[in-house]
Amino acid sequence: MANLWWDPSAWPMSWWPMSWWPAGPPPLIDAAAAADAPALAEIHAACFARGWSEAELEALVADPAVDALVARRASPFGTRRPVGFALCRRAGEEAEVLTVAVSPHWRGRGVATELTETLLRRLYAERVAAVFLEVDAGNVPALALYRRLRFHQVGERRGYYAGSGGGHALVMRCDLL
Ligand SMILES: CC(C)(COP(=O)(O)OP(=O)(O)OC[C@H]1O[C@@H](n2cnc3c(N)ncnc32)[C@H](O)[C@@H]1OP(=O)(O)O)[C@@H](O)C(=O)NCCC(=O)NCCS
Repeated sequence: MANLWWDPSAWPMSWWPMSWWPAGPPPLIDAAAAADAPALAEIHAACFARGWSEAELEALVADPAVDALVARRASPFGTRRPVGFALCRRAGEEAEVLTVAVSPHWRGRGVATELTETLLRRLYAERVAAVFLEVDAGNVPALALYRRLRFHQVGERRGYYAGSGGGHALVMRCDLL
């Protein structure tokens, strides 16, 4: 019989939490709620030169045309703190990604990929045919994310982000149907 102490595969699930903290399990993807607005505003401010206010984010989350997903980190205390989020606005058979933002401490772990893939799956289920977005041509991580998810460039807006210290915007499209 396997020794329960030395064989991790034999440990009951309830023993695992103490062993995977602080790395923790992967964040859970969930629908955002109005109560998340302060945490989303904090993440957004850490990601962009011009952050969106709590009120702006609360209005977006409440908008029925907006799909708002949040990646939540489980804590040993039972809380589910947001570590990233994605917003997308639907208009008929098309949709626009408004933002994808991940807290700096949680980047490079697949959180944005998981959020955006979930968003695209939802849009596909709602028969949305094409998804558009604008991204700074110099935003290497975002371009890697979107290209991997089959977005391709369909236009360019020169100097679009010049006011916020960025450069040209690339207009990208992903065909779902
Ligand atoms: C862009 C952003 C959302 C990516 O989030 P993330 O959770 O770190 O992304 P992932 O871990 O899912 O990785 C997505 C892709 O980006 C690549 N990537 C992540 N960080 C990178 C970096 N610093 N440099 C280069 N590529 C990077 C990953 O390798 C991955 O590509 P792959 O699948 O081909 O390997 C995050 O950097 C961010 O919040 N940036 C600020 C806000 C922003 O620019 N949002 C996008 C424009 S709206």
